[in-house]
Amino acid sequence: MSKISLIVNGRQRSAEIEGRTLLVDLLRGPLGLTGTHVGCDTSQCGACVVRLNGDTVKSCSVLAATLESNSEITTIEAIADADELHPMQRAFSQCHGLQCGFCTPGLIITAIDIVEKHPEGLSADMVRKELKGNLCRCTGYQNIVAAVLKGAEDMGFPARIKAENA
Ligand code: FES
Ligand code: FES
Repeated sequence: MSKISLIVNGRQRSAEIEGRTLLVDLLRGPLGLTGTHVGCDTSQCGACVVRLNGDTVKSCSVLAATLESNSEITTIEAIADADELHPMQRAFSQCHGLQCGFCTPGLIITAIDIVEKHPEGLSADMVRKELKGNLCRCTGYQNIVAAVLKGAEDMGFPARIKAENA
């Protein structure tokens, strides 16, 4: 066992881990952040996506012991602003971009990253390509793509959404 210290959702957190402990298991177990889901454990579904030092990662594919001390992790629990949902969360609700909701935490984290990575604008095709690492077993993809485009608009990118994808 070894001790790891991380900044998780803006708070200093530490825990004892084994060499084999996956980041997702650290988050869901000792750190109690169960909003990050495990859908496959084989790095395919994207339910476990979190932000690590600003980048999105599949937390089931990261050994916690390999993280630098004080690495910054952001999980779905920190996306809303207190009681105010993030625009992307609102858009998923308004566009019915979820059914059972199992894939939703990973999709929301990924969707925010997609918007930030493409300040030049997003098309529906771009969203579909960028979401290739996130699977929805309820197969609600049409509404998910619509939600990401609406979320992008509500995040302040209205003029950049390409008209042909409205
Ligand atoms: Fe990590 Fe499926 S649980 S990609
Ligand atoms: Fe059920 Fe996506 S909403 S898995």
